[in-house]
Amino acid sequence: MNQQKKYWNERFKVGDIWGNDPCPSAIMSIRHLEESNVTNIFVPGCGYGRNSLYFAQKGFEVIATDISNVAIDHAKYKAKRFKEDKLKYFSNDLFEPFLPHEQKFDAIYLSNVIHLFLERERKELLNKMSSLLKPNGLLIFTCISTTDTKNFGIGKEVEPNTFVYHGKTLHFYTSDEIQEILCPTYQIQEQKLHIQTETDPDGHQENLILRFIVAKKL
Ligand SMILES: C[S@@+](CC[C@H](N)C(=O)[O-])C[C@H]1O[C@@H](n2cnc3c(N)ncnc32)[C@H](O)[C@@H]1O
Repeated sequence: MNQQKKYWNERFKVGDIWGNDPCPSAIMSIRHLEESNVTNIFVPGCGYGRNSLYFAQKGFEVIATDISNVAIDHAKYKAKRFKEDKLKYFSNDLFEPFLPHEQKFDAIYLSNVIHLFLERERKELLNKMSSLLKPNGLLIFTCISTTDTKNFGIGKEVEPNTFVYHGKTLHFYTSDEIQEILCPTYQIQEQKLHIQTETDPDGHQENLILRFIVAKKL
């Protein structure tokens, strides 16, 4: 089994490990989605659906996917009251093709996914997201920041600012790197740091310092 699938299935076995409130970034996205008249959103790496469900509740049409079939089962259960054309879930590896060739989105929302990979895969992921967006579509994502000094530097550095710890890869982004990877395909509309507090099922809290990026495809 794919390592990521194995790792995340194991983590999600115990339930909705960070609670069911939407992430701060999902809430911050709404203004941008409304201003750009977005109707459909793709949410890859959706986990157990805390953000995809929120977007559907806000009236957007959502397709969401995750490599963890355990997470997708949780997400589908909570989405029962939504019609399939409003909120659709698939269990799939985002690097594998699965959507009809012509399917394009007004917006893509990626919460804490892009930083899980090595450079080559991060590039591939970004190219893939760009190919799935309509012109003027919005790419909205969060990623961990080099300014997160509590987490930065833990484990073995395998590439610049990329550490592997207990089998999990984390790439920490600088603001300059965000500019570099998005230019010239995107125009950045917003980039800011924020704190996301995750509470696990035992009540332990962890503060992540994340970058929130909204970029328009040119
Ligand atoms: C840090 S979690 C974030 C989950 C969700 N976005 C959220 O904020 O609640 C990363 C997610 O990415 C998913 N993931 C990792 N590699 C993936 C891949 N190759 N294809 C699809 N999903 C993947 C994991 O299963 C996990 O749900």
